Amino acid sequence: MTATPTAKNIDGNALAAQLRSDVARRTQALKSRGLTPGLAVVLVGDNPASQVYVRNKVKACTEAGLHSVLEKYDASMTEGDLLARVDALNNDPAIHGILVQLPLPTHIDANKVIESIAPAKDVDGFHIASAGALMVGQPGFWPCTPYGCMKMLESIGYELRGKHAVVIGRSNIVGKPMAMMLLQKNATVTICHSATPDLQAMTLQADVIVAAVGKRNVLTANMVKPGAVVIDVGMNRNDEGKLCGDVDFEGVRQVASYITPVPGGVGPMTITMLLVNTLESAERDGALRGLV
Ligand code: GUN
Repeated sequence: MTATPTAKNIDGNALAAQLRSDVARRTQALKSRGLTPGLAVVLVGDNPASQVYVRNKVKACTEAGLHSVLEKYDASMTEGDLLARVDALNNDPAIHGILVQLPLPTHIDANKVIESIAPAKDVDGFHIASAGALMVGQPGFWPCTPYGCMKMLESIGYELRGKHAVVIGRSNIVGKPMAMMLLQKNATVTICHSATPDLQAMTLQADVIVAAVGKRNVLTANMVKPGAVVIDVGMNRNDEGKLCGDVDFEGVRQVASYITPVPGGVGPMTITMLLVNTLESAERDGALRGLV
């Protein structure tokens, strides 16, 4: 006999749909005042995964009523030419968000390009000014994936104050900003990584676990305290080629109270938060121009 699963799924598709309809409504309101939110997506080279990502980003913009432009360049584009394109987009009043898809070809310094984006248009939240603003609790754009995870916790009415959150992974895009967001909500935060000697000892103390490593089965049932909330940021393929996260979903759902599935969990939230950031950038622009 199989054990009864106890965890409820946090449905990323449903939450994303709800948030996107709110984005569409607010976009319509801005448009009626003569301001259309605009996102520029810049892709250099022909990385197949990146091509799918950028296509999905542009499609999501169109569906929510935002203006978007996709600029595709050959892998041989020079760093100088890319910096010039970013500069032009920084000065384009129709563009409120600029996203340069990563990875970039190795002859281009990705940090230099990210730092050339105007912080007011940095809807990816990767600029040092955005990271610094998050760190000190000032207004600024939050990176979309951890921001989406926070929305998922909010959607179940989870009170983070006084809870212990363990983040597995310390990337600049997910782990580190995730830890800052949880801290801002008054959780006690532990960041674990490849040099953490006893990961299980850490995760067993956690009320909330965010797994953001990019490796299958990083988190198994014996590492989870009964009733913990588990957020799975991973996006991997199993031996059968099926999409899976960092969490052993079937095992962990017997122990956790809430869990995000893969696919259908964090994934749909990332693009959604990109739309939210772009819309909010446009709303700020509208406020500055006295339109809203
Ligand atoms: N490559 C993979 N994910 C992302 C993302 O969220 N933003 C950018 N700019 N590049 C990526």
